[in-house]
Amino acid sequence: MIGEEKINEVRERADIVEVISSYVSLKRAGANYQGLCPFHAEKTPSFNVSPARQIFHCFGCGVGGNVFSFLMRLEGLSFGQAVKAVGARYGIEVEDKPFDSRAQERARRRELLLRVNELAAEFYQNILLQSPEGKRGLEYLQRRGYGMETARHFRLGFAPDRWDALAAYLQGKGYDPEIGRQLGLLRPGKNDGRDRDFFRNRLMFPVVDSSGAVVAFGGRALADETPKYLNSPESPVYHKGRTLYGLGQARSAMSRAGEVIIVEGYFDLLAVAGAGFENVVATCGTALTTEHAVLLQRHGKKVALLFDGDSAGWKATLRAMEILLGTDVATTVITLEDGADPDSFIQEHGAQAFAERFAQARPVLEVFMEKTLREAGLERESRARAAESVAAKISLLASPVKRELYLRELAERVGVSVQALATAGREMSLSPRMTVMTPRQTREDIPLKNQQWLLRLLVLDGNLRQRLEAEGAERYFADPDYLMTAEQILACGADDKALADLLEGAELSENQRRIVREALQGDVASLAEDRERIFQDCCQATETQRLKKRSRELTREIVEAEKNGDIAAVAALSQEKLKIDRQLKTRSAAIAEKKIM
Ligand code: CTP
Ligand code: MN
Repeated sequence: MIGEEKINEVRERADIVEVISSYVSLKRAGANYQGLCPFHAEKTPSFNVSPARQIFHCFGCGVGGNVFSFLMRLEGLSFGQAVKAVGARYGIEVEDKPFDSRAQERARRRELLLRVNELAAEFYQNILLQSPEGKRGLEYLQRRGYGMETARHFRLGFAPDRWDALAAYLQGKGYDPEIGRQLGLLRPGKNDGRDRDFFRNRLMFPVVDSSGAVVAFGGRALADETPKYLNSPESPVYHKGRTLYGLGQARSAMSRAGEVIIVEGYFDLLAVAGAGFENVVATCGTALTTEHAVLLQRHGKKVALLFDGDSAGWKATLRAMEILLGTDVATTVITLEDGADPDSFIQEHGAQAFAERFAQARPVLEVFMEKTLREAGLERESRARAAESVAAKISLLASPVKRELYLRELAERVGVSVQALATAGREMSLSPRMTVMTPRQTREDIPLKNQQWLLRLLVLDGNLRQRLEAEGAERYFADPDYLMTAEQILACGADDKALADLLEGAELSENQRRIVREALQGDVASLAEDRERIFQDCCQATETQRLKKRSRELTREIVEAEKNGDIAAVAALSQEKLKIDRQLKTRSAAIAEKKIM
């Protein structure tokens, strides 16, 4: 949080022409300045900066805004970070406004944790680059094709093969070992309780967030020890599901390219970046999450998935696809031969061959469709199943235009009507197997209002949290962001203090904070009496919405079955519709009765 006056002070002092000039070469053109747009590729300048109005606008790609939005977009900064960056340039110190002592305490604690991580990164790096102990690490790195330059760029280091190298170093600097323990850098020994280094005899990869802070480490064993990689546990400064390795280094290349390549491993990232594609990040052993997707969306509208050429790699691709299809990020996939990973491919075939592969990247859904249909073969049952599963993925697409294009292609390939496929796709993706529903379905299936009410009740009522925790939140929240937020809230159980920590701490993303804020706006206290009734109403409304939707679908399906002369289907579908319509009727009668009473 930054004070309003501070923001105004920075805005007034800053000159947008000067700030943008350090990124884009600008030429005077009448009252304005012009240059080549940094947000899309162009040969003739359509990027305009107005010194009078202190704004920029590109007539080519349509982006525009003020000095803060320029930096947010180009550097991938948050608003607060942009204000600080501009402030720093003009010698204005921008401090976060301490809104209460607890928040202040947390901020102080976070800073301390990050400082210790930073010290550890420096310690490991010095060993790698300067000490005889680090020679083995450097040799290992060289054997895999990388030198000092890579080591410096990614701040690589080496954890010596000693029990207490880092422990002693941190102690010498006067840091409480408790901080090292919280970060997972130190572990108390089982017998004597003395602190021991968690990472030993490993090549160290510091994980840096987008503001450049070291939040965690990954350590690669030099030989065949297990585990091959050791990673920092989650900590107050490290949340796996929200962190992408290499983001700090990839940021500017990502804005330039408007695209990001996602790989799985640390060395994969070194290889791809080394091949000249610096716009690369790694998930490092976790599946891509919705929060990752939000992070990526901030940096560009294109994602290329580059996972191992084996069945595990394909599975990871599918999971990432499911997350990304519902966003407006265009997702492609780069495929490798069975048994290859990006690192081994580049080591073997070189950067040029990789660039060719990259150029051949294809839309992930297209690749999925081809592969699924090919593997299903010609047999009717398996073909139908394959078509249904492709249709289900198509229904995840956020854009109705893209949905239709893909459905048409699928319909043509399997010789089934677009309508039948559309229905099948919706059904599959609504079935209980699928816990996270897509943003697209939100608007039709469960109005956001209900979800807001429910979230509000969950924040207020510990009993309700326990109840919903047992039932599963996915029945009530169709929107993935709401669902994730609700699940985090439910994890607090009946403990109000844990909930307060969650809501005020750093665990929730900005988007989630907004959701909670919106759900809690207005007069919260007056709700006290009515919680149970509102909860019941929301559940009812959710269920009614579902039934209504199914009834509408059935109408369409009956018409379709009649057209095809499928009498058995008409009978079965009509029966189901009758049953649902009856349920709907009883419901509306019950609601009417309640209103009278
Ligand atoms: N990983 C991990 N812990 C393990 C194994 C893997 O955290 N025990 C993560 C690492 O980030 C690793 C990624 O998952 O880079 C992919 O794993 P894998 O393909 O097994 O390793 P590679 O990246 O190929 O590692 P290397 O090339 O160093 O053998
Ligand atoms: Mn590898």
